[in-house]
Amino acid sequence: MTASPHDGVNRSISNSVPSASSETDDRQVDPAPNPHATAEQVEAARSDTKLAQVLYHDWEAETYDDKWSISYDERCIDYARGRFDQAVSGDASAQSALPYGRALELGCGTGFFLLNLMQAGIADKGSVTDLSPGMVKVALRNAEHLGLDVDGRVADAETIPYDDNTFDLVVGHAVLHHIPDVEQSLREVLRVLKPGGRFVFAGEPTTVGNFYARWLGRITWEATTRATKLPFLASWRKPQEELDESSRAAALEAVVDLHTFDPTDLEHIALSAGAESVQANTEEFAAALLGWPVRTFEAAVPEGKLGWNWAKFAFGGWKTLSWVDENVLQHVVPRGLFYNVMITGIKPAPRA
Ligand SMILES: C[S@@+](CC[C@H](N)C(=O)[O-])C[C@H]1O[C@@H](n2cnc3c(N)ncnc32)[C@H](O)[C@@H]1O
Repeated sequence: MTASPHDGVNRSISNSVPSASSETDDRQVDPAPNPHATAEQVEAARSDTKLAQVLYHDWEAETYDDKWSISYDERCIDYARGRFDQAVSGDASAQSALPYGRALELGCGTGFFLLNLMQAGIADKGSVTDLSPGMVKVALRNAEHLGLDVDGRVADAETIPYDDNTFDLVVGHAVLHHIPDVEQSLREVLRVLKPGGRFVFAGEPTTVGNFYARWLGRITWEATTRATKLPFLASWRKPQEELDESSRAAALEAVVDLHTFDPTDLEHIALSAGAESVQANTEEFAAALLGWPVRTFEAAVPEGKLGWNWAKFAFGGWKTLSWVDENVLQHVVPRGLFYNVMITGIKPAPRA
């Protein structure tokens, strides 16, 4: 059976004791992850973007942390904290509010952003949500291993299943570009935020950045899969069924990646949703030019083939080029040319 995204909305699972509030009364059995989409299911998802989200992200949930080198140690704690700090830079009130009491993550994936932000001291209690049951399952398992106070729900970011004025902070990483109606989702974010509460979304592709990232990714994938057909590189070739499964899932990518953003347009969307103190920042130019080929290559060769030295090279290279971006290129390159855009804003307090 195909997992329908609509089955997931308003169902929840938790690794902490459920509270008695109304928001948890409708808890039922969560829809099961569906990690192996068939060709027929992929076909059906071509005309149903939310079904595609579930199939695509359920497919990659269990391998997602490895694919994207996600960890829950100092490296990714610093990275997540860095994205938060960069998003709110210039707004001292964001730092003085730390730690936020209760935080929500939309499109949590495996929990990379919120779990690492919690470890960095940004929030005390967390709620992770995602359209993909497989992702929520992995995020909760990660939270449990880390001993964090986190509950989770399978939920659509356009209809957030929490009461008004519930959260002090709402975060997301690499999720807005998957949501059909971004403004509707931000309206929902403002609804569930307490007055004065903040949202921070990072890791969204800019329109220009997405163009060069995809182009670099395509070339790297083609070159690697062709080169590893050569007999002396056979040990670097992934089993054919894994390559076929990757191709089927990659076909869904075009369906799940809905938007790229111009930073100014994104600010207008947030303002139009009702936010105030809105600010978009961009980052990663040279770092993205290295990062996309590196990540595509990692996905194209057998798991475990590239050892620790490769990981050190990839992370060290990214860090060095990020430094160049931040300290040199930010001052001379227009903000729309960077790969990543992030946005923050505040829910206005009610008028007296
Ligand atoms: C690119 S992944 C990012 C995951 C994670 N935030 C990270 O940075 O590692 C995007 C995630 O958004 C989820 N997603 C897509 N559309 C969604 C929607 N309408 N509501 C909630 N989650 C959604 C996907 O299932 C997926 O887990």
